Amino acid sequence: MPPIDAVSLPLKRAKWRRELKYRKLGKSGLEVSVIGLGTLAMGGGGYGPVDDRESITTIRRAIDLGVNFIDTSDNYGLGHAEEVVGRAIKGSRERVILATKGGTPWDNQGRVVIDCRKEVIIRAAEESLRRLGTDWIDLYQIHTPDPQVPFEETAGALQILIREGKVRHIGLSNFWMEEIKEWVSIDGIVSLQMPYNFLHRDIEEDLLPFCRDQGVGLISYTPLLMGMFAGRITQETRFDRDDHRSLYPQFQGASLRQCLALTDRLRMIAQEWGMTLAQLALSWVISRPGITCAIPGARHPNQVEENAGAGRRMLTEGELGEIDRILDEVGIEAQRLMPMRVVKVKKGPRGAVGLLEGGLKLGVPNSVVPGDMVEVDIVKGKVVGLFRGSN
Ligand SMILES: NC(=O)c1ccc[n+]([C@@H]2O[C@H](COP(=O)([O-])OP(=O)(O)OC[C@H]3O[C@@H](n4cnc5c(N)ncnc54)[C@H](OP(=O)(O)O)[C@@H]3O)[C@@H](O)[C@H]2O)c1
Repeated sequence: MPPIDAVSLPLKRAKWRRELKYRKLGKSGLEVSVIGLGTLAMGGGGYGPVDDRESITTIRRAIDLGVNFIDTSDNYGLGHAEEVVGRAIKGSRERVILATKGGTPWDNQGRVVIDCRKEVIIRAAEESLRRLGTDWIDLYQIHTPDPQVPFEETAGALQILIREGKVRHIGLSNFWMEEIKEWVSIDGIVSLQMPYNFLHRDIEEDLLPFCRDQGVGLISYTPLLMGMFAGRITQETRFDRDDHRSLYPQFQGASLRQCLALTDRLRMIAQEWGMTLAQLALSWVISRPGITCAIPGARHPNQVEENAGAGRRMLTEGELGEIDRILDEVGIEAQRLMPMRVVKVKKGPRGAVGLLEGGLKLGVPNSVVPGDMVEVDIVKGKVVGLFRGSN
């Protein structure tokens, strides 16, 4: 990555920049800021209404603060987030490590599907380049595994993109232990992007140690649990109809009450340690062993200012222990199961594949037939139960 030009910056900004920490992303030569910027909400298709001018100001403010790692995806707002990122980084492309994702195209009615076939991946990357207004993508990530396509086919497409200079490094996202093992032998895999926050710690069991051994950088997404640990959500919060948080069980009923009780406890600790709740949540994530960086989503400059502040201070072992003690004491597990209807069942290389309402494509038990309802663990993206005859 070209060196960051700090000379022209006002002193205050240069200070922020000096203090924000950077780490190598896996085996790549990329040095990413420990706090990056997620742009899912900027797409406008999931977190309610969006203001592009505000999004662009937010991205530019992040870059000014030294946040050099920007994560987006082709399907955030069906290309809109990439276009916004492209406009924001015009003139400062060299200062940014740009990560996007593919493998989730959409049909002409705007329905997103999972499709990691060779020609789909190559076309998707080319369209991302056009929307982002750049000649290269620093990190191209497969958004989620496609249980219908052999991994060699997808990996082959990625190798072509690297050979052509369109993509510098390859990353994966939402690949759990059983899906990632075959991939690590592929040249150029440098990172894995997974959900990781106070309540979603599944990766600690096996993925995190595995990635550390393999030199794969771990990028934490939803580090604020979609804003829950940023402190603005209360029992009275009502989400817009097109804000996907209204569907998530942790934002409802007893689960929400428990989460809020936890945030109250953590807010007190944050105050004691001289930080905000959001900063505590982010510092915690990036201080956990094996985590390279977190990519909190933000739509307003003041949010990136607050979030970048978390990248200046790592928590000590004693502080991490104190938080674990509180998490154990409060002892909640955010509700994460959702029923979903199976629309089609097809054969995949590793068994039956269910196409679910909403575009998810997941491995299902062989006995599943169209019309069945399955229970999905939405954090792991796995079918964990089946309700027969509910059609
Ligand atoms: N690979 C994947 O499958 C996947 C899945 C999800 C996300 N991601 C990536 O990870 C990024 C982060 O996830 P996320 O955006 O869904 O969730 P998140 O980072 O946990 O939460 C983001 C939300 O928290 C609120 N927020 C952020 N900073 C704040 C602050 N300082 N003060 C108050 N509120 C604050 C904002 O809500 P408001 O907008 O309501 O203000 C923001 O939209 C995404 O943007 C995306 O790049 C990847």
